[in-house]
Amino acid sequence: MTIIVTGGAGFIGSNFIFYILKKYPDYRIVCLDKLTYAGNMSTLAPIMENPKFRFVKVDICDREAVYKLFEEEHPDIVVNFAAESHVDRSIENPGVFLETNIMGTAIMMDACRKYGIIRYHQVSTDEVYGDLPLDRPDLFFTEETPIHTSSPYSSSKAAADLLALSYHRTYDLSVTISRCSNNYGPYHFPEKLIPLMIANALNDKQLPVYGEGINVRDWLYVEDHCKAIDLIIHKGRVGEVYNIGGHNEMRNIDIVEMICDALGKPYSLITYVTDRKGHDMRYAIDPTKIHNELGWLPETKFADGINKTIQWYLDNREWWETIISGEYKNYYEKMYGNR
Ligand code: NAD
Ligand code: TYD
Repeated sequence: MTIIVTGGAGFIGSNFIFYILKKYPDYRIVCLDKLTYAGNMSTLAPIMENPKFRFVKVDICDREAVYKLFEEEHPDIVVNFAAESHVDRSIENPGVFLETNIMGTAIMMDACRKYGIIRYHQVSTDEVYGDLPLDRPDLFFTEETPIHTSSPYSSSKAAADLLALSYHRTYDLSVTISRCSNNYGPYHFPEKLIPLMIANALNDKQLPVYGEGINVRDWLYVEDHCKAIDLIIHKGRVGEVYNIGGHNEMRNIDIVEMICDALGKPYSLITYVTDRKGHDMRYAIDPTKIHNELGWLPETKFADGINKTIQWYLDNREWWETIISGEYKNYYEKMYGNR
């Protein structure tokens, strides 16, 4: 079995590659990644010599390069993680989100049609459903919740989902889609909430909380997301959407205070800053479908997951410090430029 994993030098994609290589030692994984600011080759360094793993620096929008890779590798499964993923960046510069998240998805699926695959899996997000009000804790996103996006990021992801469903209906491409809530864990890029707060707290820097800090996210430990995708690509029904989330809703401010407590840092570091434009209030997933059909349940409780994550950032200071200093951008050229 050969799996092409796009975006595998990023947060969730790298965790997924580690998980699959360990669980299925006979599978071959080919990671296709453009290495944008969010891609970090030092993350993949421990597996670069693994004969079951290959890395190629390719943009999913480069049709010729993508087709060439399919001709070389004959993948059975494609899991598309590659995306521009940061809402704040999409507000500043939507164009690249449309290019990668929509056009890139179309090109990956065109390659799947042309060369034939068993499964194309689109990694999507709960943000395609928009947000829920804070005063209706009884409401959750199901797979039937209408698409109702707020940011250029979520709109581009929703467009990709609709394209994927249309490729299934029109061309009979074997597509599945997963829509997951916010992930946290190792290798999370330190401009997203949890790693940013850990890194800033460790450096005694201000902890910028948007608005009043009362927005709610439904946090899932990244390995639980990887397990869900593993189940979907092997056992999920083609043409279906699966929501992934663990009923773990937290207000931003409570997470930031929890991180301060764990690191012994004062709440005086917390600084309330201007709110994000169009800021979604609450995300909350109903994971009944994936539980009933595929038996998936989250395994890591938030209290354990956040402690493991904080410990990982303490133990792997060099990983995030080279990102903050910008040094990681030279890593690929230095290590692999002449290979
Ligand atoms: P990330 O930003 O950490 O990683 C994205 C990766 O994609 C990087 O390695 C980057 O170099 C690569 N990439 C970007 N543009 C590319 C292109 N044009 N061609 C090839 N590679 C490219 O993102 P993440 O948090 O790991 O998210 C992965 C996927 O999961 C995304 O599709 C995202 O929408 C989705 N998702 C993320 C979360 C979350 O909480 N992080 C939750 C639900 C869904
Ligand atoms: P983020 O990690 O960017 O994920 P998403 O926007 O995809 O949910 O942000 C999580 C929440 O944290 C969101 O409500 C915005 C908020 N936030 C802050 O308050 N301060 C920050 O510096 C960042 C990056 C996010």
